[in-house]
Amino acid sequence: MKKIAVLASGNGSNLQAIIDATRGGRIRDARICLVISDKKNAYALERARRCNLPVRVFLHQDYPTRDAYDRALVACLQGEGIDLVVLAGFMRLVTPYFVGAFPGRIMNIHPSLLPAFPGTRGVADALEYGVKVTGVTVHFVDEGMDTGPVILQEATSVYDDDTEESLAARLHAIEHRLYPKAIDLWVRGKIKIVGRRCLLDD
Ligand code: GRF
Repeated sequence: MKKIAVLASGNGSNLQAIIDATRGGRIRDARICLVISDKKNAYALERARRCNLPVRVFLHQDYPTRDAYDRALVACLQGEGIDLVVLAGFMRLVTPYFVGAFPGRIMNIHPSLLPAFPGTRGVADALEYGVKVTGVTVHFVDEGMDTGPVILQEATSVYDDDTEESLAARLHAIEHRLYPKAIDLWVRGKIKIVGRRCLLDD
């Protein structure tokens, strides 16, 4: 049974999708052992508590540097014996130390087809650029911003009457399917990283 930690800063709808998938059998042989947030009022924490999952809050202001912050996070995750770290709207770039502590074992989800539109404005940037197709990317985390090997992607059209809200809602619906699928692939040992490529043995 693999142990998963989910890190989230906000609403936590992806956290909820992953909880539901572990409990509904769409992610097999894994359970969420810990939910961590950097915001004490994150709704993600409320969702976790309602599902009786242990939560921890790590506030930035309690640590003198980003490195000290990440060292505390890593110590906590290693102390719990976490196998896979899942970033689900965790609005903080992790340090090389963090990445090195969990090689090939940190995932992130991003609301665009990377490498297009990295960063915190993936939905708005795609809309403003005028692309006709955008989507969702699940990827491993490396030391860059949204630059790690791509695990899964799914596209959606951008319609003339789309707003940031309507497009984000469609992307969220994709995310809630795609993230559990990627996690399940990892848990079952179906992802082989070769250079920048993730080869899926499914
Ligand atoms: C998602 O759109 C995800 O792609 C991005 O942050 C958002 C988190 O949403 N990384 P939620 O908190 O899971 O609802």
